[in-house]
Amino acid sequence: MKYRIALVPGDGIGPEVCGAAAEVVKAVSDSFEFNTYLAGGCALDKFGVPLPQETIDGCLASDSVLLGAVGGPKWDDVPNHMRPEKALLGLRKELGLYTNLRPASIQPALAEACVLRPDIAAKGFDLMIVRELTGGIYFGERGRNEAGDAAYDTEAYSVMEIERVARRAFETARKRGGHVTSVDKANVLETSRLWRETVHRLGESEYPDVRLDDMYVDNAAMQIIRDPSFFDVLVTSNMFGDILSDEASQVTGSIGLLASASLGDSSRGMYEPIHGSAPDIAGKDIANPIAAILSAAMMLRYSFDLSKEADAIEKAVTDVLTDGLRTADIKVPGQEDWIKGSEMKAAILKKLGRE
Ligand code: IPM
Ligand code: MG
Repeated sequence: MKYRIALVPGDGIGPEVCGAAAEVVKAVSDSFEFNTYLAGGCALDKFGVPLPQETIDGCLASDSVLLGAVGGPKWDDVPNHMRPEKALLGLRKELGLYTNLRPASIQPALAEACVLRPDIAAKGFDLMIVRELTGGIYFGERGRNEAGDAAYDTEAYSVMEIERVARRAFETARKRGGHVTSVDKANVLETSRLWRETVHRLGESEYPDVRLDDMYVDNAAMQIIRDPSFFDVLVTSNMFGDILSDEASQVTGSIGLLASASLGDSSRGMYEPIHGSAPDIAGKDIANPIAAILSAAMMLRYSFDLSKEADAIEKAVTDVLTDGLRTADIKVPGQEDWIKGSEMKAAILKKLGRE
């Protein structure tokens, strides 16, 4: 029997990069079958809603989900509850994906793209942001007063919600550098005080072998630029993780390379590049498929325990970069000989022994 993968290509460059990722998965294993579902702006155009029930059901009936990206200026003026982004938030909630793993590291072959001071960049860094994904202010109660001249959003967290994502952070740290930094704003927010207490209680009782420290989110934002090699695993709330993960990815200088995994209690996850739908370059075969391809490698590793196949994909990506192949987003200034997205995919397939 084959594993079922739900492909949710979405909008903009989503279909190009998601298709490339599916091809790469097929190249390393014949244990998968793919079904495509619409979500985001394309679903809104076709079905009148950003997240059709058919897509939710299809994802729930699958063993894992590969997603491209959603959104674009075409849908900027639709009512809030119809925005393409709602599809992403809805899928995370419906699939119970409360943890988001966002790795950011410097690829040695691309060290020159890193935006850090050269002596700091030379040290390199490899951090993992563990972001809470189905709670906090993105899912809290929100609204406006009757006059419409005041609005509110609510941040709320329970011990259960904090514990389950913190547990994932401690487990992740055990397989990496053994260090967790819990990021909050406990000098101001009550939710952050509960966050900090809960993470410490769990750390002391179940993970005494993992080094745990805390940082306020504003200081963490500075530390990522000052010297990100301080970090191993960061664990933080939904909104703080959203912001810090974009910051960390941009610091690497190659956001077109960064993957993510959204996980819950079962082995079914949702895997997506973090770069978004980039509507300005959609359909031009410029988009770098590497982030989506590396997301597929994360899927093989985390959802299916296929670490040999995941290693092979990651090695193929490192090899093409070491060979000097560059898509437009990762070329050095002045470089003329950049390749198209489809050529990058073909080069990776070739490294995997498929032409
Ligand atoms: C992300 C995105 C989403 C988020 C948006 C599109 C809802 O920014 O995946 O980081 O905030 O989670
Ligand atoms: Mg974001």
